Amino acid sequence: MRRAIYPGSFDPVTNGHLDIIGRCCHLFDEIVVAVVVNPEKKPLFTVEERQSILRDALGGIETGTCRVSVDSFGGLLMKYAVEQKADAIVRGIRAISDYEYELQMALMNRRLEPRVETVFMMSAEAYSYVSSRLVKEVYQLGGSVRGLVPELVEARMSEKLGRTSHQ
Ligand SMILES: Nc1ncnc2c1ncn2[C@@H]1O[C@H](COP(=O)(O)OP(=O)(O)O)[C@@H](O)[C@H]1O
Ligand SMILES: [Mg+2]
Repeated sequence: MRRAIYPGSFDPVTNGHLDIIGRCCHLFDEIVVAVVVNPEKKPLFTVEERQSILRDALGGIETGTCRVSVDSFGGLLMKYAVEQKADAIVRGIRAISDYEYELQMALMNRRLEPRVETVFMMSAEAYSYVSSRLVKEVYQLGGSVRGLVPELVEARMSEKLGRTSHQ
């Protein structure tokens, strides 16, 4: 059984994240989507909300025989990976700007735990410019994010930000 952890903020999950998870399902038997508890970031959604949104959104994608679950963790990712008996960490790469940071993290993580491999997946072209940060910003300013996040995420942002979604 091959198990991967897909860690991130997922504040909120976007179609870019879901595309990575869907494609990852062909590579692994189990994927744990793990929301990072980071006291230094000021998120829109709480860790619990982000997990529940993820669970709902995962219902809408094809996962085949792969078991996808949602969890959260704080502290060192490699410690969590060992606890979870994970074989790999999955990260998405959208552009060169992601690459430098991700390379640094992957090399540090390899030093901490050489048995856990970091696997990079290239973003789908259609979502290569999509980030949770930009989605929130555009939505908050009244722009449409239709097609970039699942509809249920739009609904949750509308509840949170107190406005109805745009077409
Ligand atoms: N549109 C996207 N396409 C592919 N990968 C993405 C996309 N958006 C984010 N990712 C990747 O998903 C992972 C989690 O992203 P994110 O939720 O922003 O958490 P983090 O705070 O770790 O960056 C990261 O590896 C990020 O590069
Ligand atoms: Mg990010």
